[in-house]
Amino acid sequence: MPEPLLVAQNLCKTFTSRGRRVTALDDVSLTLAPGETLGLVGASGSGKSTLARVLLRLLPADAGAVRLLGEDWFQLRGRALRTRRRAIQMVFQDPLAAFNPRATIGGVLADPLRIHALADRAARPMQVGALLEQVGLPASYAARSIHEVSGGERQRVAIARALAARPSLIVFDEPVSALDQSIRSEILRLITELQKSEGLTYLFIAHDLAVVRLVSHRVAIMESGRIVETGPTPQIIDNPQSSAGRALVAAVPRLALRLPS
Ligand SMILES: Nc1ncnc2c1ncn2[C@@H]1O[C@H](COP(=O)(O)OP(=O)(O)OP(=O)(O)O)[C@@H](O)[C@H]1O
Ligand SMILES: [Mg+2]
Repeated sequence: MPEPLLVAQNLCKTFTSRGRRVTALDDVSLTLAPGETLGLVGASGSGKSTLARVLLRLLPADAGAVRLLGEDWFQLRGRALRTRRRAIQMVFQDPLAAFNPRATIGGVLADPLRIHALADRAARPMQVGALLEQVGLPASYAARSIHEVSGGERQRVAIARALAARPSLIVFDEPVSALDQSIRSEILRLITELQKSEGLTYLFIAHDLAVVRLVSHRVAIMESGRIVETGPTPQIIDNPQSSAGRALVAAVPRLALRLPS
């Protein structure tokens, strides 16, 4: 077996707000093999986004460790951290919240190229155009503002921005939850195709098993801050072992669970 891309061990995170303690992550461990998609499913409040933010170091863990590409990820500082940051990118449910509202799409995509020194100034417009085309948008979109495109197109820009950093791993947090059904399938297809062409590893979060099973090789089920079950996608769908897993399977119409042939 190839060395895992990421190994998370015993991650814990507790929030205290208005005197109330919430355990968002309770001893969470997971492994991501290179080139695979792990789907992370669970009810609202089960800790999925907290796990994503902790893995990206957007939020410090209270305890636990992560090895990323053979390095102790949480211990990296300074220059080593800046270099490694590029390896994990994130795509959120609402790209508007993640973009500077005044920037053009070209500006949004040029930022990672500049920050990570991936293209000098003269080469950036060409690379921005190539990134747009990679996610199925015309290069001319570079001149538009993020407000001047549809929700689905905005999510394509968010994916292009993640790709710009040339990551090893992309964490998707409910990337299609806000989109209409038809647009949703297009975006899921794009995500799957990019994984193959770019050799990417994905952690794909959703609270709907019907979406997760379309893209995931394996599924992890989260409940109250814990991963209660992990297995190959068909096994989880056919024979869930945990009560949370059974509830998630039961919530999806039978037809939507048929695997594509
Ligand atoms: N910054 C915060 N301060 C206090 N509590 C928080 C904070 N962020 C998350 N929580 C709490 O931690 C728990 C897990 O939240 P999280 O957002 O990770 O869940 P989720 O599985 O992503 O839910 P959803 O499906 O609704 O996005 C919830 O009880 C939430 O209220
Ligand atoms: Mg969430």
